[in-house]
Amino acid sequence: MAPNLLPSEKSPPLLPVKDIPGNYGTPFFSPIKDRLDYYYFKGHDAFFQSKINLYGSTVFRTNMPPGPFMASNPRVIAVLDANSFPVLFDVSKVEKKDVFTGTYMPTTKLTGGYRVCSYLDPSEPAHAKIKQLLFTLLASRKDAVIPAFRSAFADQLFAAVDSKLASSGRADFNAINDEISFDFLGEAYFGARPSKVGAASGLPGKATTWLSIQLAPLASNIVTKYLPWFIEDLLLHTFPIPSFVAKPGYKDLYAYFQSAGSAVFEAAGKLGLSREEACHNILFATSFNSYGGLKVFFPSLVKYLAASGIGLHARLAAEARAAVAAAGENGRLTLAALEKMELIKSVVYEVLRIDPPVQFQYAHAKKDFVIESHVAAFQVRKGEMLFGYQPFATRDPVVFGPNADKFVPDRFVGDGAKLLRYVWWSNGPETEDPTIGNKQCAGKNFVVLVARLLVAELFLYYDTFTAEAGTSALGAQVFITSVTKAKAKAKAAEDSSSK
Ligand code: HEM
Repeated sequence: MAPNLLPSEKSPPLLPVKDIPGNYGTPFFSPIKDRLDYYYFKGHDAFFQSKINLYGSTVFRTNMPPGPFMASNPRVIAVLDANSFPVLFDVSKVEKKDVFTGTYMPTTKLTGGYRVCSYLDPSEPAHAKIKQLLFTLLASRKDAVIPAFRSAFADQLFAAVDSKLASSGRADFNAINDEISFDFLGEAYFGARPSKVGAASGLPGKATTWLSIQLAPLASNIVTKYLPWFIEDLLLHTFPIPSFVAKPGYKDLYAYFQSAGSAVFEAAGKLGLSREEACHNILFATSFNSYGGLKVFFPSLVKYLAASGIGLHARLAAEARAAVAAAGENGRLTLAALEKMELIKSVVYEVLRIDPPVQFQYAHAKKDFVIESHVAAFQVRKGEMLFGYQPFATRDPVVFGPNADKFVPDRFVGDGAKLLRYVWWSNGPETEDPTIGNKQCAGKNFVVLVARLLVAELFLYYDTFTAEAGTSALGAQVFITSVTKAKAKAKAAEDSSSK
């Protein structure tokens, strides 16, 4: 399918410049009302959709949670269509300083006193140095990722799923993923699995506590099974959870990165970064960006795979097995084999499109400029905050057609790959790369690679599986309920158990 050109790509702006609809209401009270609508009375999608309907526009003014007393200024201009959303990537127009988590910023006491890379604007000198350090780290470990994924992730995952299914009839994918992905990241980035190098125990749990403190203002309906919603709102969205709660765990995490990251510190020195700043940054990139990312993304990927059923599973298994037979090594995955798996690649992009793991992007206008939705143009003034809810932008039917809100596994196969420039999960088009001059995710290629590895390994090992999916604090909660092992794997398991 040929991509539809967006109005802004066709010609110079011809649309009439209108006032941005919407208003911020009464200070203090309206931001709280918006917060309650968003978390409890309407929910995310209905909150935005009701405002789109009310104003007849995908660009409008609104308050964004958490609001009082967590965020001093909740006022944003929402950009919810595929034409206006990309302004958030244009660092010539917008500043991305301290907006990683949105209208509030967690205390730097949680990051050793440093503003880590994710909060830095490219105009700040430390941004280029730290992002370069992460690029150097990832490049130096590129050959380690596939073997680390197999030994530290896939093998552990299958053993855990098989044993949980045998003992209790269902396997909590999120719990297994949380436990093994931290080890996998340590192995992939530093060649040192936390659970095997004498690091303090329970690092994944400690990382989760530290993450939760930073993300609590964005979460909801976690304790509403036990407590009324207004108590939860007070606990999560009104005042920050004190940072001392995470302090002992952070110390243990820091100690692990200090010993595991020695090669990185040498590179940091050459870039003019202190060992300490580098260590807090690799801790954040691994424990927040990477571990937090996989906590959300992998369950979502497995959820969509499970829902697609045996027809898609058979195609994925056939593709993975044929590619490994043609370009694998001793029946194992290689990069060359992975490159042959076009459907698997498309499935990964489609999940990232339909359900971007990070749903929000924020930025401040650096100057006055005009933005365009599909039907109108709007004047933005210097200093105003722009906000994008990505699932609306990447499910825009103008770009993705009438099935934009459907999961279409082969959407990006063949000619469909032209639509990849509208896949924005990494805070930039999938067809572009992160650089030290932009704010696109430093781990973009790593994320796509490991997701393709997960799908390929799953269908090398299993013919099919079933799962039940619900929601968790951070996204999907998935329980695997049955698996059918690939014949060769089932036979190998039988042989080893009869020995
Ligand atoms: C599923 C996994 C991941 C998702 C969904 C994700 C998503 C994102 C998004 C949306 C941003 C931009 C946020 C903003 O400024 O508005 C970002 C930035 C960033 N991500 Fe990722 N990320 C993931 C994994 C990773 C990994 C594995 C790394 C490892 C290095 C990483 C490192 C970073 C860094 C350093 C930034 C800040 C970039 C900059 O300041 O220029 N992320 N990520």
